[in-house]
Amino acid sequence: MDTEKIREQFPILSREINGKPLIYFDNAATTQKPQVVIDAMNEYYKTSNANVHRSLHTLAAESTKLWEQAHKEVADFLNAESDKEIIFTGNATQGLNFVANTYGRQYLKEGDVVVISELEHHSNILPWLQLAKEKKIKVEWLPVLEDYTLDINYLDYLKLKYKSRLKILSISHVSNVLGMVNDVKKLAKKIHSVGGVLCVDVAQSVAHMPVDVKDLDCDFLCFSGHKMYGPMGIGVVYGKKEILQKLEPWITGGNIVTKVWKNGAHWAELPQKFEAGTANVVEAVGLMEAINWLKNYSWEDRREHEEKLTSMAIAGLSTICDLEFLGTKSLEDRIGVISFQLKDIHPHDIASLLDERGVAIRAGYHCAEPLHTKFDFGPSARISIGIYNTQDEVKVFTDAVKNISNNFRK
Ligand code: ALA
Repeated sequence: MDTEKIREQFPILSREINGKPLIYFDNAATTQKPQVVIDAMNEYYKTSNANVHRSLHTLAAESTKLWEQAHKEVADFLNAESDKEIIFTGNATQGLNFVANTYGRQYLKEGDVVVISELEHHSNILPWLQLAKEKKIKVEWLPVLEDYTLDINYLDYLKLKYKSRLKILSISHVSNVLGMVNDVKKLAKKIHSVGGVLCVDVAQSVAHMPVDVKDLDCDFLCFSGHKMYGPMGIGVVYGKKEILQKLEPWITGGNIVTKVWKNGAHWAELPQKFEAGTANVVEAVGLMEAINWLKNYSWEDRREHEEKLTSMAIAGLSTICDLEFLGTKSLEDRIGVISFQLKDIHPHDIASLLDERGVAIRAGYHCAEPLHTKFDFGPSARISIGIYNTQDEVKVFTDAVKNISNNFRK
């Protein structure tokens, strides 16, 4: 994989920040966009913009075709059975809220149980806590063990305790703080054995490893386009067709009906019945382009490249005294997301001092405060690696953290 050739395709990477070349290590928050994605979106607005599924003119037909084609591309990318199983939302957060507010709202009753884990992003915590308030259901948490792995056997205990009242397991594929991959396939077997459904948040994994809904055996899956080199403003929910068919829409309005009368409506077919309002076609076009762009690089090559940089970053950070990792240093089953703290230097200061050197990272709780609290960690600094990062950039980053550690302690 020729990283220089990849970098040339991302116009933003030639920017300078504070007089220094931009080094972008905030890929878990959002990735940058290649020129082909930007061009495809511009082209759509220049040539084909129109509302979908409504008007009968040529532009509307072209736009509708692109919208439907985007569903097909995503279905193919996820190895879904059908494009009917692909629903476009605004982002992964909206996707998880969708699952809670359709399946959760429709099927859960007082005393039922939703299981999440201590390493979830707030977007996979708060929709369930809100639902719990309203429906008097219980939210149980899979613990994170001292070695930062998920205690998936705790689900066996919950199965014995709640049996068929265990209705939903909603879990992230990869933690946005630890970067570690959870054994979703094992969890799928466990939750299905009591008749529950599995929802997987693949927002952090989808750009870094194959995500195959059949292989994961999930019932729902959610992600955002913008973390996989696609545009902001589009997310995906995958749902098994037989489940989606029985669900009522959550957000209602135009585009989702075949007939409306004063007392009700007939819903349109999948996935339309869940896509109320004007479709975000331009983002779907951008997402489709990002998926096609990613196909230029094999998973194996990308993994090798990102793993090399991850190992360099961990090795470099490990030489800094008073640096503590939140997460394992192991390279096994992980992506290039590394969170850490420097004793007596607030992560926000680390992020600002790095920004002065042109290096972009994220600092804070990364919307995963329960995980930080569990390890009594306080906020952390986080570097997250993408396809266009280089060994030189990792070196600049680790040297800069070393320098900050040596010179900015209170
Ligand atoms: N969920 C994104 C992150 O982890 C925003 O930074």
